[in-house]
Amino acid sequence: MEVVILEDEEQVGRVGADAVAQHVLADPSSVLGLATGSSPLPVYQELAARVRRAELSLAGCRAFLLDEYVGLPPGHPESYREVIMRDFVDHVDLIPAQVQGPDGLAEDVREACSAYEQAIADAGGVDVQLLGVGSDGHVAFNEPGSSLGSRTRIKTLTGQTRRDNARFFGGDVAAVPQHCITQGIGTILDARHLVLVAMGVAKAEAVHSLVEGAVSALWPASALQLHAHVTVILDGAAASRL
Ligand code: GLP
Repeated sequence: MEVVILEDEEQVGRVGADAVAQHVLADPSSVLGLATGSSPLPVYQELAARVRRAELSLAGCRAFLLDEYVGLPPGHPESYREVIMRDFVDHVDLIPAQVQGPDGLAEDVREACSAYEQAIADAGGVDVQLLGVGSDGHVAFNEPGSSLGSRTRIKTLTGQTRRDNARFFGGDVAAVPQHCITQGIGTILDARHLVLVAMGVAKAEAVHSLVEGAVSALWPASALQLHAHVTVILDGAAASRL
C-alpha cells in the first residue's frame, strides 16, 4: 500500500489523475472504476483539464460505477448514474454508453447483480478503481459488517447513511431510498489498482483503520490491506491519525 500525504486538494487531484492517466496512457481501452461522492471530485476535475488540453483521451475507455440507489426513476438527479454524468462524464470524452452502473430499477434484483458482475468480467475486469471512504469506514455502500468477500448485491442503507445523504434529497430523509445495489468488497478487490482518496479530519479515524488497523468487517476499508496494488491519497487532516 502506497500512502501519499499532500498539502491541498489541487495536489490530491494531480496525484489521483496521474494514477488514472498512467493506465489510460499505457492502454487507451482501459476499464475505469468510478466512485461518486465528494472525495474523487478533484481527480475528476484534473482529468477533465487534461482531456481539455488534449494530454489525455478517455474516448476508448469503458467505466463501471460502484453502486446505485434502488428505485429512483430514470434520470432522477440523485441517481448515481446522473451524478457521475454531471460530475465527470459530461466534462470528458468518455462515451456515455460506455459507462455502466448497477440497475437500480431491475425487477429481478438478484439477476441484475449477477449480470453486473458478469459485465465487469466480460470487459476484462477493472484496471483502475477510484474509491472514497465513509467516516465509518464504508467503501461504496459496503457498510460496517459487510462480508470482506462480498459480491454485487442489494443492501439496506443504514439510518446514518440515509441521514447523511438526506442533504442531496432536499433534507428529506424519507426521500432517500432504503436500498441500494453495491459492488461487494470482493468485487472491488478484483480491480487491478485501487486508488482511494480521503480528505478532511472527519475521515481520519477511517483512514487510520484502513492503513494501520486490523483487517475487519467492522471497518470495510481495512480490506484494502489484502490488495497488492493500492494507492491512498490523503490531505494532512485525513492523515492526522497515522
Ligand atoms: C457514499 C458513497 C461512497 C462514498 C462515501 C463518502 O456513501 N456510496 O462511495 O465513498 O459516501 O463520500 P464523500 O466522498 O462525499 O465523503
